[in-house]
Amino acid sequence: MIGLGRMGLLHARGYAAAGAEVVAGADPSPAARAAFAEATGARSYPSTAAMLEAEGPAAVSVASPPFAHLDDVRRAVALGLHVLCEKPLAPSTAAALEIVELARQTPSVFMVAFFNRFLEPVAWTLRRLADPALDVGAVRSIDICFNPGPQPQRPWQADRAVSGGGPILNNLIHAVDLVRQICVDDPVVDAVAYTRTDPRVSREVEADGYGLLRTAAGTVVRLESCALAARRRFSLRIECERAAFDVSWNPPGATLSRPGRQPEAAPVSTTDPLARIDAGVAAFVSAACGVPPTGLPTHDDAWAATQLVDLLYRSSVAFPAPLPHGG
Ligand SMILES: NC(=O)c1ccc[n+]([C@@H]2O[C@H](COP(=O)([O-])OP(=O)(O)OC[C@H]3O[C@@H](n4cnc5c(N)ncnc54)[C@H](O)[C@@H]3O)[C@@H](O)[C@H]2O)c1
Repeated sequence: MIGLGRMGLLHARGYAAAGAEVVAGADPSPAARAAFAEATGARSYPSTAAMLEAEGPAAVSVASPPFAHLDDVRRAVALGLHVLCEKPLAPSTAAALEIVELARQTPSVFMVAFFNRFLEPVAWTLRRLADPALDVGAVRSIDICFNPGPQPQRPWQADRAVSGGGPILNNLIHAVDLVRQICVDDPVVDAVAYTRTDPRVSREVEADGYGLLRTAAGTVVRLESCALAARRRFSLRIECERAAFDVSWNPPGATLSRPGRQPEAAPVSTTDPLARIDAGVAAFVSAACGVPPTGLPTHDDAWAATQLVDLLYRSSVAFPAPLPHGG
């Protein structure tokens, strides 16, 4: 494990659940190393290089802040390790491309941590959408909201050199990955974003990001992620010609609505939205053990999502906050 903060501990939980042994973790923070040692019983190191040399692992999770991912992946790929890399790949599109090129060269597994694909109701929705027997018709619009709610920001998220961006890069990168899963063979051809800055969040990156995308076939996508939203809301709505899907994260659930029929609810086995991380890590472990992967988020997916986020930023119009009287 590289990076033993919140995600590092969640990856470790996923490995344990998947029957993989977490041998060690690296993090410059003594507090993070202590929490990791207590949670896992594994060894910990202040230096990633020293850990990799001493432990010789088969695979590595990169859950450091984005600025460190390129160095971490470079080290891991040089050693031929399987890599599960957190998103965003890097603070800049250029550094993300360097990671993608490293991943293209390695014969080992490289997975990007687009865990939202593994939320049970999301996976169910993607299967139902693709089911020809259901005949839902073309996707007309998609609405995705990833508002984290009033949880404390990581200090590094306010620092552009470390994070690369605000909620568009941190959260909407998951959203654009989902859009690609929904609009298979229908590329995004147009994007526009509005970003609002707020000194309570950062003077360097946006506090709120809103985006509109349009696909070649004419699907319109509305995206929202606001660091200052007063309540947590993760939701996905897909309007098709003959059906609509509503997906929620907390608790995980999905409903399929069709005219003249009773709504159909997705079967879900857990109320824990973080089970998506266990499922994603389990998929990585299977792939690293040689089971042919299906639906594993690859470097190509990471690169496509990075380019869409890049497009959103390049098309973005910034406006100052707070808007007077609620805007
Ligand atoms: N996939 C998801 O759903 C999801 C959700 C949240 C965060 N993330 C991503 O996970 C990564 C980590 O985020 P987090 O929320 O765990 O942050 P965090 O701040 O909780 O943890 C980051 C840890 O990395 C350590 N660190 C800093 N520099 C390091 C280095 N050079 N080498 C090793 N460790 C280093 C810090 O000391 C800290 O303990 C980020 O890329 C973030 O965007 C992904």
